[in-house]
Amino acid sequence: RPGAQQWVPESADDVDALRAAAPACRGCELWEPATQVVFSAGNPHAAVALVGEQPGDQEDRRGIPFVGPAGQLLQRALEEAGLARDQVYVTNAVKHFRFTPRGTRRIHATPEAAHITACKPWLAQELRLVDPRVVVLLGATAAKALLGPAIRIGKDRGHPIERETTRGTKTFFVTTHPSAVLRTPEDARDAAYAALVDDLRVVASLLS
Ligand code: URA
Ligand code: SF4
Repeated sequence: RPGAQQWVPESADDVDALRAAAPACRGCELWEPATQVVFSAGNPHAAVALVGEQPGDQEDRRGIPFVGPAGQLLQRALEEAGLARDQVYVTNAVKHFRFTPRGTRRIHATPEAAHITACKPWLAQELRLVDPRVVVLLGATAAKALLGPAIRIGKDRGHPIERETTRGTKTFFVTTHPSAVLRTPEDARDAAYAALVDDLRVVASLLS
């Protein structure tokens, strides 16, 4: 696994240039069984960047992040929190869908630390170019990718975390992944969703 670095154009001066280069990436083995690379969506000059885990089944088929069930839940939560679509940039820590085939279905498989590390040059370059005020980390994969392995959603979610970056001090913000809300047992799901909306309201308040 060489990592993505050699496929990331260092001279890229916008996200579109990164997006155009991403299909050629062979930085880890995940490209091969996947349909296509799934890069980012949204406003490349947004004040808020949201980082998910990896594309899901529908994202892999369509080539667009957050268009499946988790993406729809996220979109609803963003609207309830007062964050408009054009205020956010959305991307993933890992750009190819990792799955286990089971009959005709493809079952989501959590990316390993090595996949996150391999794919990180894309994310680092995106964040350098977008230069958002707040980076929202949706779930443990994104949080570990950018804040290190000690991060725990339970204790670290819901409050701003300042870190030094190549673009100066940035505000990071950890919350749950929308897929985790969907997986929550039904009797607790509304509360899990409300907690996500509450966290996103805090993010919105950081912008004013
Ligand atoms: N889950 C993610 O983390 N990202 C997507 O793009 C879709 C589902
Ligand atoms: Fe490259 Fe990331 Fe895809 Fe691996 S997952 S091939 S590093 S884009």
